[in-house]
Amino acid sequence: MSSFKKILFFNLLIILLVSNNYVFAHQGHSCSHDYDDQIKKTQRMLNEYFKQNPINYPEDELDRNLGAQTIQPIRITTDFTRLSYQSGGPAITADQIKYLTSVSTTVVNFVSNFIKVQPNPSNNVFDPSQTDGTCITVTPSASDKTTGIPNSDLHLYFIFNSDSKAGYLANAGFCNLQQTATYLRPNFGRVLFNIANMKNSGTNLEQYQDDVMVTLHEVIHVLGFSYDAMQNWYNKATNQLLGQTAANQFITSLKVRGIQTNLLGSPNVLAVAKKYYGCSTLQGMQLENQGGSGSINSHWERTVIRSEIMTASALTEGLNLTFFTVALLKDTGYWDDVNESLTDPIYWGKGKGCDFFLNACQSASQYEEFVPANQAACSFWDDGQGVGSNSDPFGDGCNVVQIYSNRLCSDIANQSYQNDPASFNSDTSNDFSYNSKCFASTVYSPNAAVTGYLNENLRCHFYQCSPDKTSITITFSQIPNTQIVCGASDQGNQKNVVYNSKTLGQVTCPSNIPRICDDQQCANFCTYNGICIRGLCLCNSGFGGVDCSQKCSGFIQQDGSCVPSCPNGTYGNPDNVCRATCPNGTYPDNNSSLCKQCDFSCSQCQGPSNTQCKACQFLTYLNNGSCVTTCPNGQYADETSKSCQNCPDGCTGCTSYTACTGCKSGYQQNSGQCISTNCTSPCATCTSTQTNCLSCTQNLYLQPTNTCNSSCPSGYFKNSQNMTCSACSTGCKVCSDANTCTQCDSSNGYRLQGSSCTLCVSPCATCSLSNPNTCLSCENSMYLFNNSCVANCQTGYFNGPNYTCSQCITGCDQCSNGNSCTTCSANYQAYTYKNVQICINSSSCFSPCSTCSGTFQPTTCASCNQGFYMQGTTCVAQCGSGFYGNQQNQKCTQCPTNCQACSDSSTCTSCSNSYYLSQSSCVQTCPQGQTGDNNQICVTINTKSFAERNYFAILILLLLITLSF
Ligand SMILES: *[C@@H]1O[C@H](CO)[C@@H](O)[C@H](O)[C@H]1NC(C)=O
Ligand SMILES: *[C@@H]1O[C@H](CO)[C@@H](O)[C@H](O)[C@H]1NC(C)=O
Ligand SMILES: *[C@@H]1O[C@H](CO)[C@@H](O)[C@H](O)[C@H]1NC(C)=O
Ligand SMILES: *[C@@H]1O[C@H](CO)[C@@H](O)[C@H](O)[C@H]1NC(C)=O
Repeated sequence: MSSFKKILFFNLLIILLVSNNYVFAHQGHSCSHDYDDQIKKTQRMLNEYFKQNPINYPEDELDRNLGAQTIQPIRITTDFTRLSYQSGGPAITADQIKYLTSVSTTVVNFVSNFIKVQPNPSNNVFDPSQTDGTCITVTPSASDKTTGIPNSDLHLYFIFNSDSKAGYLANAGFCNLQQTATYLRPNFGRVLFNIANMKNSGTNLEQYQDDVMVTLHEVIHVLGFSYDAMQNWYNKATNQLLGQTAANQFITSLKVRGIQTNLLGSPNVLAVAKKYYGCSTLQGMQLENQGGSGSINSHWERTVIRSEIMTASALTEGLNLTFFTVALLKDTGYWDDVNESLTDPIYWGKGKGCDFFLNACQSASQYEEFVPANQAACSFWDDGQGVGSNSDPFGDGCNVVQIYSNRLCSDIANQSYQNDPASFNSDTSNDFSYNSKCFASTVYSPNAAVTGYLNENLRCHFYQCSPDKTSITITFSQIPNTQIVCGASDQGNQKNVVYNSKTLGQVTCPSNIPRICDDQQCANFCTYNGICIRGLCLCNSGFGGVDCSQKCSGFIQQDGSCVPSCPNGTYGNPDNVCRATCPNGTYPDNNSSLCKQCDFSCSQCQGPSNTQCKACQFLTYLNNGSCVTTCPNGQYADETSKSCQNCPDGCTGCTSYTACTGCKSGYQQNSGQCISTNCTSPCATCTSTQTNCLSCTQNLYLQPTNTCNSSCPSGYFKNSQNMTCSACSTGCKVCSDANTCTQCDSSNGYRLQGSSCTLCVSPCATCSLSNPNTCLSCENSMYLFNNSCVANCQTGYFNGPNYTCSQCITGCDQCSNGNSCTTCSANYQAYTYKNVQICINSSSCFSPCSTCSGTFQPTTCASCNQGFYMQGTTCVAQCGSGFYGNQQNQKCTQCPTNCQACSDSSTCTSCSNSYYLSQSSCVQTCPQGQTGDNNQICVTINTKSFAERNYFAILILLLLITLSF
């Protein structure tokens, strides 16, 4: 037993050591000092220039133009010429250039959907006198300085260097400002990639998506997210730069967690931070308080908003663009509108109050964001298995889960990672894929070679969310026909995974199902041609499809064809696919058959005008189809419905339904409520009968019987919007709001489907919402076939997984599973292949045969597939002893005499008995000075390799000794 434990420990150690190399080595934007200084210097020069050369537009021109301009998507132009090889500069490959260009093109396409501006009325001209003549070291071409760039609101130069010693990936800034009577904003910028750290991601699609986020981070710096740029932000009221004094007024310096920290309190940022954390006294959002000059102050503080895109380093698990960054971009004054509908959800510290915001991991409360050092746990978003560590250089010493390098659930490469033992992942039923998440789980494969991995209590499993994001279904590649469903009421509970009446372990249902389900990944991470926004790809122009993998300069119909515009009744989505619906933030436009952007104030809208809002952004409330920051008199801003709601009858104004700010005459104020002088308590208002309530006092709910009580009867829920017991939806007995039912009226045939109750006709267990006889699943162990339920599946089908009838394999009439066949159809014959009976026809021919000779002889090859060679009548990947795979004729060909193995007709790689390998031939006697060794190779005598082996053994011994402490 004890020796077994030691082996396990060693296995863990390997995971840890490897992960040290990657996971805890933060790729950062830090330490690019020279470049950071140039970015700072540029901001100072710009400030100096506009001080020396103020452009004062006449008052009347300002008045006339204010708000008069129409705004449109920003036009970003790019100059990639400086990414090519430069003599004397670092080496760059064509592949790398293509990669950086592709990543940047994706980002530019995104930003054109993200920002709207008043279009530049003329060509975009670089003004060298604003700086030292360069754009942060880039010398613009002569024509950029004279004629300028047409159709350009912002022009970006891309450059690179290669510094493997520095930890940064990239840096960026703007270098020119353009001022007109109605706007002032950056019109030239420069992005630098450090190609030693920012490498071509090859086939790793997720890494491409991460690099897109890194590049977007840089472009957001160009858009004004920088401490040094604040003095150059735009003050619309004066049509001048904001200036240092006003910029300083946005900053409060405060010691948090023992570190002096700057808080940014510009208007939108302040409002977002107060509301997000639920801390009305905070003075601003924390800026990064650690790191080099390029990191500190010019990013959000990692500790309080961990994965935000504008924190100071990349994370293995990815970054999120959120309303914090949108708020800052609005506060720069540069951009006429910023599209909050393109942001990702975020949960870190959300609603956790001032204590979280100020104290975080040092609080007396233990927040789920932080875990004790060295404690194994799933990461906050459940994207991987890791361990508590304070190694993040921007993390204020707080311990958070750092994911092991071979334990990120979304990375499919981890499946084949060489663990010790190699069967570790399959034994423990770990499944890595973009559909996987980390769970507390002790499940083993029914075929596990080893089942005693003590201390291994985390797994990556496949998961799928229900469409309403309230439940998760977990499945396992190693355990057929088995699933675990975790609903809202199961959170935190352990569920047994049972297969063939054997319990294979437990999965704990996560307690953050809404968060897991809000993390919507895109198919194949948008395949190098787009960016993922809330589970839907925004594809670059010329590409389309759910994963942007299809070349198409128009739109893709349901049948896969590429058409210039979508057919009637369907609309071009952001992934250029024609669908009957449009995603949130857009509305269906019948004239263009396109999903068009809502006005950026709406998070959902319905058209035909883009300002007809259905739902609002983070800071605003729905009021008669518009989104407002403050609700009109007599109404209050309700957080649950995100809309303006009427105050109770007797109030003149209120801040919530139970907090009146004044009473109408005939009413008197009593702890925040207005009570009619005509009624008896607890009625606040009543009918002509004094005890017949119309509304209640003392936070009681108005009952259907016009009385007041603290709870509601069955079939009703507590509606805090009007302090009334409101009816649940039809067929529902217990609900938490009008749309979320948890228990249905089963005695009348209602069944819970998702979170609503539907009538299904037995034996349907679940059924279509439109037809109670159209089964979606069956009860009483019956099988689903064509939306009906049968006790046994018909000919050609078998009783398949999940109680559905599944089709037998080709040529098979009757079968009991999806791999083999009991009786064959006409024109087919039974055939045993790899110990399994299947059905073949006269022309069947099995890979690796490419063609077969004869009929009903599917393994008698006449020719082979690519990569295989004919040996007799079979095709092999590796030829037998004494033969080699001849590329020319795809046949196994004899090696030269005395060779045991060879790689071609003249190169032996090992020799027959009593021959020795010398150069690439087999000789009977080795050349002078050499002797034949045990492997039949001619070698010079040498003892070094033995010594090396000894040294390695001592190292391992040392490691084991260290471990036992
Ligand atoms: C947000 O970041 C987390 C953690 O870094 C990541 O798991 C998640 O996928 C991101 N969300 C989106 C929508 O990209
Ligand atoms: C699409 O609908 C419009 C109006 O409903 C109609 O005039 C037009 O002919 C339709 N086009 C096609 C191709 O069906
Ligand atoms: C649209 O937004 C609503 C409200 O936030 C959300 O419930 C819904 O899931 C979203 N729809 C999609 C397709 O993301
Ligand atoms: C109170 O009763 C009087 C007389 O019946 C009526 O005129 C008045 O409107 C009532 N006030 C309220 C607030 O109901």
